[in-house]
Amino acid sequence: MYNIAIIPGDGIGKEVMSSTLEVLDGLDLDLSYEYGKAGDECFKKNGVALLDETIDLVKNSDVCLFGAAGETAADVIVKLRQIMDLFVNLRPVKSYPGTDSLFKDLDFIIVRENTEGMYVGEEEYTEDGAIAKRIITKEASERICEFAFKYAKDNNKKKVTAVHKANVLKKTDGLFKKTFYEMAAEYPDIEAEDYYVDATAMYLLTRPQSFDVIVTTNLFGDILSDEGAGLVGGLGLIPSGNIGKNNALFEPVHGSAPDIAGKGLANPTAMLLSAVMMLNYLDEQKSARLLNSAIFDVLKEGKRLTPDMGGNSSTMEMAKEVKSKLLERMGS
Ligand code: NAI
Ligand code: MG
Repeated sequence: MYNIAIIPGDGIGKEVMSSTLEVLDGLDLDLSYEYGKAGDECFKKNGVALLDETIDLVKNSDVCLFGAAGETAADVIVKLRQIMDLFVNLRPVKSYPGTDSLFKDLDFIIVRENTEGMYVGEEEYTEDGAIAKRIITKEASERICEFAFKYAKDNNKKKVTAVHKANVLKKTDGLFKKTFYEMAAEYPDIEAEDYYVDATAMYLLTRPQSFDVIVTTNLFGDILSDEGAGLVGGLGLIPSGNIGKNNALFEPVHGSAPDIAGKGLANPTAMLLSAVMMLNYLDEQKSARLLNSAIFDVLKEGKRLTPDMGGNSSTMEMAKEVKSKLLERMGS
């Protein structure tokens, strides 16, 4: 049995969560859910966006599924990543059928360092401006590069590409690049290469098929992964994982979408694909494969899609179609 912390959050977070749980119900797995409160509504009611009991719930669970928060997102999701030391941000870039992906054949993943770099939040004003610290440690570089190579090995990927700007940021990214190649030496079967971040931004448009696994620092990873999302067509489709030593949290990349909330218009795909990532993390690979294929079936068939994909089905209708494909595949 798996204990899963469920944080629906705000707006469409609640809708994509309930429809995803409806689909997971079809799997042959013993999943136990405990619900946690966080986000704007929680703030209104309790004066804090993230309750201590929610933090404890996530800490004591096997894994967490998170919907979306609204204006309090930074106090919720960014804080959870820090408190739980979820040092990896994993963002797959994959073409799905029936979507307006710019390329039909993409399948790579961005492994972004999630705890340091430009996002340590250490800024200060000076006499004539302001300074931000960019912190790169050996330890954090090592664990993110190790994760990337191990991920490549476990997932049949042939190559890991480090992305940096070591020609200008000689000390910080110099350390990151050096650490990357030290780790590469421990994985001789996997090809290792490195590019500057500006060149990578271009290669992602000109030859994205050449990437397998990209590993990079926090800010570069944030920017490149949104570029990756743009390549495969739309926020309603993009899942993500935040992974630490002892815990993980999976969430769609999108927010609470107040413009469409409460109307059943949200595309559940990003949340469903986040659940696929969760199942892989739990090593339930068969269930992950089945669910992934069922989502693929529905997108390919194109009969029950939400309005953002040109269909006229509701969030729950699309999810129920995924569930029925899932049950079909399980029965056959
Ligand atoms: P957003 O992702 O909520 O929405 C951007 C646009 O994409 C909107 O037009 C929305 O309707 C559309 N969209 C997003 N997800 C969709 C889906 N599943 N199906 C169909 N259309 C979808 O980002 P926005 O508008 O910048 O932020 C709204 C709120 O969400 C803000 O309060 C922000 O702080 C929060 N937010 C929370 C995040 C999180 O919890 N991880 C991440 C990003 C934003
Ligand atoms: Mg971002």
